[in-house]
Amino acid sequence: MKNILILGAGGQIGSELVPYLRGIYGDAHVVATDVKPNEVLKAAGPFEVVDALDAKRLGELADTYRIDAVFNLVALLSATGEKNPTLAWRINMGALTNALELGREKKAAVFTPSSIGAFGPSTPKDKTPQDTVMRPNTMYGVCKVSGELLGDYYHTRFGVDTRSVRFPGIISNVTLPGGGTTDYAVEVYYAAVKGEEFVCPVSEGVYMDMMYMPDALRSIVELMEADPAKLKHRNSFNVAAMSFCPSKLFEAIRKQAPSLKVRYEIDPVKEQIAQSWPNMLDDSCARSEWGWKPEWDLDSMTRDMLEKVGEKKTKGLI
Ligand code: SER
Repeated sequence: MKNILILGAGGQIGSELVPYLRGIYGDAHVVATDVKPNEVLKAAGPFEVVDALDAKRLGELADTYRIDAVFNLVALLSATGEKNPTLAWRINMGALTNALELGREKKAAVFTPSSIGAFGPSTPKDKTPQDTVMRPNTMYGVCKVSGELLGDYYHTRFGVDTRSVRFPGIISNVTLPGGGTTDYAVEVYYAAVKGEEFVCPVSEGVYMDMMYMPDALRSIVELMEADPAKLKHRNSFNVAAMSFCPSKLFEAIRKQAPSLKVRYEIDPVKEQIAQSWPNMLDDSCARSEWGWKPEWDLDSMTRDMLEKVGEKKTKGLI
């Protein structure tokens, strides 16, 4: 990868992936785009305001910057998707289709994240295998499974170098996620630091896979740089780091921030989605095909999150 185009760069993943990639490949070689202006991303390298559904504009940018890799991070998340399923389909699939077409026309590699949301209630919940039943019952999940199939199709039919991981809920401290079922596991750290009561929207015992952002960023680069000859799978790899339920997370936070207060007020949409997703993925294919290994666990992540979110509070940013 020499020149990378990022779609949806202003979101939870993009706002950290762009600086991470610029650190590796050089500021000028990572072109960030988003539908909204973003002064932070613009200050450090190329940034363009672009609607990811505008295929013509994307094609022009790919030519201007001689793009050879496209990272598509555009998506309405699971709970938002249930509020407006047709919009979720249009945006999630529209951006992905444009990214794949860039891959075909400009001979660029394409990365797009899939999710634990690609699984559904009939998927085995524990040690969820790499290759298993995928019948999600959310529009977000329907888009993710469709995206996985399209990614493999573009690879076998057109030879596009498509690669993807099924991300767990991602926990981070730069940009808040929005409209996802796993967002609670980010928001609780902000409540803990601000000394506010946290209102948890899913029940205390519902397990889901989670991952700290530094591991997520590293997984993307490691997969994209992996030797293609070793990849038996492409779209998409299970990756795992930790699995917990709300009560386990709150227990871990209280070890370091004992005054955390929590109340449960179940959001029926999020609860149903959380119950339909796996408890814990088996990521052995990612480990054996490209050497995936997480570095952060619940306690180390909690220490770092409380410190980083605490710094934001000290600076008056939250
Ligand atoms: N974090 C996403 C969501 O909760 C899952 O990929 O929607």
